[in-house]
Amino acid sequence: MSKFGRNRRTLAIVGSVAILAGGAGVVSAQGDPGPPPPNMQGPITLVDRPDATEGEALYVEKCIMCHGPVGMGTGLLARKGRSPAELEKRGDLAAAFVVLAARNGIGNMPAVPRGEVSDEQLQEIADYLAAGPHGGDQ
Ligand code: HEC
Repeated sequence: MSKFGRNRRTLAIVGSVAILAGGAGVVSAQGDPGPPPPNMQGPITLVDRPDATEGEALYVEKCIMCHGPVGMGTGLLARKGRSPAELEKRGDLAAAFVVLAARNGIGNMPAVPRGEVSDEQLQEIADYLAAGPHGGDQ
């Protein structure tokens, strides 16, 4: 093999290492968005509630995006005078009311269809909320 050929291959390897390193930089920048801005909370997910029971887990999955601390459901219910406004923190919710409200929709809340939350799942969520108040965003 000629000296020239070996040099060319070395150059090619150095080039691809540089590209890989650049790519890794981009990936890690996307994977780590850093801390949220002040006064902003990230969404609550099941990762934050590793010990969640079935009803709680379903609530986190299906309802908390609107009924969590910064959700628009919480915002609207606070304006209506519900205190606490987060469903999880209330001790006055009857399971039958939760089922009815979610299945039919209530005020500005759209109905939750069976394809999204089955009757059994909604009952689990309703039983969880009716057993409140829960700590909520711990
Ligand atoms: C798209 C956002 C959204 C989702 C998802 C959502 N809700 Fe709501 N919910 C609202 C809003 C907004 C209100 C306030 C409606 C109003 O009074 O105008 C509300 C109100 C309610 C109320 C009535 C509370 C009261 O005191 O009047 C119940 C009960 C309720 N939601 C249960 C649920 C359950 C259970 C789930 C999950 C299966 C759920 N919601 C998912 C937006 C949402």
